[in-house]
Amino acid sequence: MTYIVFWGVLNFQRGFQPQDTDIILASFPKSGTTWLKALTVALLERLKNRSSDDHHLLLSDNPHGIVPFFEIDMYNESSSPDLAKFSSFPRLFSTHMPLTAMHEILKESPCKIVYVCRDVKDTLISLWFFGCAIHKIELDKNLLESMFKSFCSGTVYYGPFWEHHLSYWKGSLENHNHVLFMRYEEMKSKPRDQIKRLADFLDCPFTKEEEESGSVDQILDLCSLRNLSSLEVNKAHKTNNVDHKNYFRKGEVGDWKNYLTPEMENKIDMIIQEKLQGSGLKF
Ligand code: A3P
Repeated sequence: MTYIVFWGVLNFQRGFQPQDTDIILASFPKSGTTWLKALTVALLERLKNRSSDDHHLLLSDNPHGIVPFFEIDMYNESSSPDLAKFSSFPRLFSTHMPLTAMHEILKESPCKIVYVCRDVKDTLISLWFFGCAIHKIELDKNLLESMFKSFCSGTVYYGPFWEHHLSYWKGSLENHNHVLFMRYEEMKSKPRDQIKRLADFLDCPFTKEEEESGSVDQILDLCSLRNLSSLEVNKAHKTNNVDHKNYFRKGEVGDWKNYLTPEMENKIDMIIQEKLQGSGLKF
């Protein structure tokens, strides 16, 4: 898997040609990617003037089926994949690559990049549950211990979390029209504010009429963990050999407190403090 993704990154770097209207949804794995994809799809779908009887895209496919990953789904085999299905604009892509891996390709492009960032300890626990679920094994504390060590040393899939976060954080400071830095915790605590922020950034703000008619809440309800996880397509289907149901668990802030020891907590907090020092990025 890792080997294939590595080729996917190289192929992307060789072959991707950005268009000005492209939207790229980025994240470290298990940071809220599925939610961000669903919200963005719902924001864009509402612009298509569909009747309310039309079947919504999110009801017939999982967000990962609708928004492919560059390095996993598109460029895994070739540097010139068939992009015919992206003939309508804006094109919507996703990635777990750090911004540094896309910098050369995107540096001249005004495309929009949205990054969702999540508390590292919750990300770790989410990844542990996900790993056990997709490999169909019991929750294993030894596995958590070894994942914790990899997180701390930065030897994980997609590299050190601090470099990942900082790449997008700096990108957003350099050009806030190009990179939007979102936080999972803020999306949970202030969903209305955050979805409006996302809509503004994507140049598709809610109109006054939409706000008054409850459109913001409709999108939030449609994309809620409760709703998405109850849909047939997310209960019974797979993408890339992953059962869709595994993308949805608790979605709680601070769930790490149920699993990490105080020593693990302290170690991660110290790493965060050291690595993010002076950047302005805080957890
Ligand atoms: P937990 O494992 O903490 O529950 P990703 O989408 O990047 O793989 O992240 C997965 C995490 O996002 C999981 O967290 C999952 O439950 C949560 N999640 C998935 N869909 C969500 C939604 N619609 N709203 C809020 N959280 C969601």
